[in-house]
Amino acid sequence: MCGIVGAVSTRNIVPVLIEGLRRLEYRGYDSCGVAVVRDDAVERARTVSRVADLEAQTQASGLSGFTGVAHTRWATHGKPDTVNAHPHLSGETIALVHNGIIENYEPLREELRAVGYGFESQTDTEVVAHLIHQAYTYPSSATRGDLFASVRAVTKRLHGAYAIAVFAKDQPGRVVGARAGSPLVVALGENEAFLASDALAVAGTANRIIYLEEGDVVELTLDGVTIHDVDDHPVEREARVVEAHAASVELGPYRHFMQKEIFEQPRALGDTLEGIESISPELFGSGAAEVFAGIDSVLILACGTSYYSGCTAKYWLESIARIPTQVEVASEYRYRETVPNPRALVVVISQSGETADTMAALRHARALGHVHTLAVCNVATSAMVRETELRFLTRAGTEIGVASTKAFTTQLAALYMLTLALAKVRGLLTEDAEAKALTNLRHLPAALHGVLALEPQIIAWSEDFARRENALFLGRGLHYPIALEGALKLKEISYIHAEAYPAGELKHGPLALVTEAMPVVTVAPNDALLEKLKSNIQEVRARGGRLYVFADSDTQIQSSDGIQVIRLPEHYGDLSPILHVVPLQLLAYHTACARGTDVDKPRNLAKSVTVE
Ligand code: G6P
Repeated sequence: MCGIVGAVSTRNIVPVLIEGLRRLEYRGYDSCGVAVVRDDAVERARTVSRVADLEAQTQASGLSGFTGVAHTRWATHGKPDTVNAHPHLSGETIALVHNGIIENYEPLREELRAVGYGFESQTDTEVVAHLIHQAYTYPSSATRGDLFASVRAVTKRLHGAYAIAVFAKDQPGRVVGARAGSPLVVALGENEAFLASDALAVAGTANRIIYLEEGDVVELTLDGVTIHDVDDHPVEREARVVEAHAASVELGPYRHFMQKEIFEQPRALGDTLEGIESISPELFGSGAAEVFAGIDSVLILACGTSYYSGCTAKYWLESIARIPTQVEVASEYRYRETVPNPRALVVVISQSGETADTMAALRHARALGHVHTLAVCNVATSAMVRETELRFLTRAGTEIGVASTKAFTTQLAALYMLTLALAKVRGLLTEDAEAKALTNLRHLPAALHGVLALEPQIIAWSEDFARRENALFLGRGLHYPIALEGALKLKEISYIHAEAYPAGELKHGPLALVTEAMPVVTVAPNDALLEKLKSNIQEVRARGGRLYVFADSDTQIQSSDGIQVIRLPEHYGDLSPILHVVPLQLLAYHTACARGTDVDKPRNLAKSVTVE
């Protein structure tokens, strides 16, 4: 969701701001803009088109300046429209960009109207620009002429989650930022400093990163960085050198980031599992052994694809570690009356570690008395990782495509190891079983290469899928969540309506939809439920439905009239979901390509959902 870049420099900073926005495009947006100080005036360009269009506009108008802020907007208050796009100005003096939601913007807007401020947009953001203008310019204001102090005073009045970056036209060389609930980092370069939603935005330009804490307000000038904490005390925050991962925003030989990320999965799994010689609670942080020994259940909270990795883990946790497990969509859990159990281990799963609903669900669980919390997350510096007692970091690398792929399979590997660690603590993992599980985990990257080699066969199927408007996905047991994930992938990027069902439920509803026009994708590993699944396949075939079956090599399901089969190289036991999801990712990807959709940035969706 919304991306922020701000800069003070001794060179024209517009190209760097635009490049920063381009790298933040993956977060999802529907309009964008940039503003700079030039000759003591604010100059601005905005568009409801792509960052490339904004760049063309800035080049055509010759927009340039040493101090600026830029933004990609994902509409919440007010439709995607140039007038609602950021930066927002106040009095032609203040320029501001904002990510998040100001919950009390309505009373603040009334208050500002009463003293003569007018509003051009329907956004909550404009309120903040005017409040800062008032604090900065009003003769009666105690913070008059001091932008840093003005922003500190104004943030005290804001409710909600936000990150902002702001400058004043009469103070070139100064940008002030604040974060509360939405991500914002400071990046330090040579004779320049930046604010950005993530370090990737300026990777390669500035690699010393300061991760701001909740409630921090920061002032950037060419002389340095000053930070005040939530209590308005000056604080020092460590600057860490972060490896330039600009390479992760390069496509290389791929057409889209999603394709690149699907093919990166062997590497991502290898990195996530690297150095793991044995299964131990310590993989999840010091103190985990004691926590694991004392828990009696697991409560998993997550959204989207991460929720489906939790659903898969429930099967493992209950069958292997014999521990009762509940999986909840975070946005439901946070508002539902539940029965807290302080002996439960609360596991939040999140690629970004900044999804607002998952974060709020974690805090809600803690407020209810849950003491043991664990994050499975792909971003080491995220708020979720900072706020949990225990953690496992997946090493998928930056994921750019909105539709999550490598983050999902690495989450599954992490959750499988959590299962094994809990089983071990509970005396349910023999040495042999542990050794076998580790061998299988280590062999995963090679096994994934075998599955990726199926791409040409999947491309052939996708041409047929591209003409459809509906699809049904079936799976059973451990592979039911994989069917759910396959349907989610297809709908989010190809816009084909897709639903997933546990195959045993077929006769209780979805069979009514089955006609020749309904492709039915079936996840058919060679497991204990295969014979049951074969009966479900016949039920579909008898109604004229067309089946697309992903089977294991040793499965006796043959291609025949109305049934097409692609065989995965081998059956992989408990880890089979990690292999079976990959052809579903490829099917969604190639179907979307055949339909010509914007694969990496599907309409209306965002990568990191930082608002409720
Ligand atoms: C958005 C993304 C999904 C992702 C979900 C949860 O909806 O488009 O790909 O699965 O958020 O994100 P998280 O970062 O918490 O895993």
